[in-house]
Amino acid sequence: MAFKRTLVTSALPYANGPVHIGHLAGVYVPADIYVRYLRLKKQPVMFIGGSDEHGVPITIKARKEGVTPQDIVDRYHTLIKDSFREFGISFDIYSRTTSEQHQKTASDFFKKLYDKNEFITQTSEQYYDEEARQFLADRYIVGECPHCHAQGAYGDQCEKCGTSLSPDELINPQSAISGGKLVKKETKHWYLPLDKHEEWLRKWILEGHKEWRPNVYGQCKSWLDLGLKPRAVSRDLDWGIPLPIEGAEGKVLYVWFDAPIGYISNTQEACAAQPEKYGNWETWWKDPETRLIHFIGKDNIVFHCIVFPAMLKADGSYILPDNVPSNEFLNLEGDKISTSRNWAVWLHEYLRDFPGKQDVLRYVLTANAPETKDNDFTWSDFQARNNNELVAIFGNFINRAMVLTHKYFDSKVPARAALSDYDQATIQEFTDVKARVEDYLNNFRFRDAQKEAMNLARIGNKYLADTEPWKLAKTDMERVGTILHLSMQIAANLSIAFEPFLPFSAEKLRKMLNIDKAAWEELGSIDILPAGHSINTPELLFEKIDDEAIQKQLDRLARIRKENEMKAYKPAAVKALTNIEEFDKADIRVGTVLECQKVKKSDKLLQFRIDDGMGGRTILSGIAQSYPNPEELVGMQILFIANFPPRKMMGIESEGMILSAVNADGKLVLITPSKEVRNGVSVG
Ligand code: MF3
Ligand code: ZN
Repeated sequence: MAFKRTLVTSALPYANGPVHIGHLAGVYVPADIYVRYLRLKKQPVMFIGGSDEHGVPITIKARKEGVTPQDIVDRYHTLIKDSFREFGISFDIYSRTTSEQHQKTASDFFKKLYDKNEFITQTSEQYYDEEARQFLADRYIVGECPHCHAQGAYGDQCEKCGTSLSPDELINPQSAISGGKLVKKETKHWYLPLDKHEEWLRKWILEGHKEWRPNVYGQCKSWLDLGLKPRAVSRDLDWGIPLPIEGAEGKVLYVWFDAPIGYISNTQEACAAQPEKYGNWETWWKDPETRLIHFIGKDNIVFHCIVFPAMLKADGSYILPDNVPSNEFLNLEGDKISTSRNWAVWLHEYLRDFPGKQDVLRYVLTANAPETKDNDFTWSDFQARNNNELVAIFGNFINRAMVLTHKYFDSKVPARAALSDYDQATIQEFTDVKARVEDYLNNFRFRDAQKEAMNLARIGNKYLADTEPWKLAKTDMERVGTILHLSMQIAANLSIAFEPFLPFSAEKLRKMLNIDKAAWEELGSIDILPAGHSINTPELLFEKIDDEAIQKQLDRLARIRKENEMKAYKPAAVKALTNIEEFDKADIRVGTVLECQKVKKSDKLLQFRIDDGMGGRTILSGIAQSYPNPEELVGMQILFIANFPPRKMMGIESEGMILSAVNADGKLVLITPSKEVRNGVSVG
């Protein structure tokens, strides 16, 4: 169907933590590429963002920190908004679900559905935390797993054995919030009967939207095939938007009911602020000639493809999404990104470590975008893509073309004379790029689109390498002029092609070329820069990233990995009770290592000669794997058991045992006194 305008939404991030590369790669960079592209094409578009500020996790974080939920969302809303601005995510509005406009819109939305009888109510027994005085979501009930008997299993799942659970199955369920006792209490809730929407949803998605990405279509299909059930849209909570009806005191809208309505309220807010620019909000949401596109991550698919459309349909006056380009997940150095384990690259930290390099991250995240499957971000790939692609291809071409123009033509674009066959072939190649980039962008294939854009720079590099204008400079300045004329046109083309992907670099390039933002339609043209046009002094578009900067990031991650392992380590159960007499039977003493070497033909044993204060003794210890350079141990004080019966191994008699402990890498570590002690002293 023909459309006149596009409304692009991007998932509203929860305002309970900063944003990381996973957010950027999954949602905001692709959405931003898309809207920048449409704007360059002069198509009416509006780009909606905002913070999702309700929900239980925000209240829990507030409780932990001893502040109010409002304090939490104020802090993170600002931080997130700043990060997005710094990365050039060009929202038309970035508002929040605690705004007045949103409270009203969400509340009215519910009321209209309520008045139309679009909800059903159900009363059920739920766990209630008497200490925190609130009902608890399944996730916040913990207890013993009925299957593997691990402690700390959640009311929805045991993380130890992976079984999905309901809170009723837990042995000795307790509140994860207060640790307090739980009672069962009756409570009434409002439900959206998704089962009643199933039929049209099936048709609309499974028959009408076969073009959706396979991961999106597939997830919808499996939800629909399982059969839809009514979903509660209210919660017993004191943080959220109160239900605007009688008999619902203490109840708020479920966060997943109010949040997507945030797209609507934020549109209203933008239209109210700039009516001449955006017009009437209803045009964006109710005119069938508007195309609605939701950019989201894969954990949001069901809400955007099934629940929200059902809400919109229940209202009856809204359009439905045309496409929901959802990405899979981005991992970090092989492990799932996790806020609670601090396993992430936070955007505000990235900017501190790589100031001014927003585009490098945008480039790498798009080149590696998890469009069809989960993907991995690694720092070595980040460095390689910067050094080998941005610097060596894009930056290098621009620099060569500009420096040569500067040198031979006094920074003026030379005139072009007759074109050779090779020139024509090159022009053909780069004119073709436009159609391919467009085709990819229209189909939300951003990594392929960016790769095509990069091909322009490759074509430029090859053209300069093949024509070698620096060699012709002494003999044929006219030919040099033609080559540089075309090269400068390629440079101007690059400033257009990369505007959606790398907005900061495209702008820098335009400044160097001394041009304004060109229209997308000029892409592929060889007449962007007229002969005689003055260009500015060339600067480097990108710079190399050295090993040291990358190592710093790897060290940070290694540190976090270690911390997490320490935290995750569960010490063995404490042994049966003993007493001082029993303990005293083991004669533990301090000694100093006099000599230490590998035992021949054994890969486990080290042979120690110990000064034990009593004339010395030999002890064998199975720690060779942990100490590849045993000579280093000479002079170190250790603890040993002095009264073990002597024992022969590999033909050597061992008189005792040296104490060690295993570390997080599985290596044995010798135990040493914290200050020097006389050899032979007993430990106790
Ligand atoms: N806050 C949700 C998340 O981070 C996304 C909400 S999207 C919207 O998973 F529908 F609320 F807008
Ligand atoms: Zn279990």
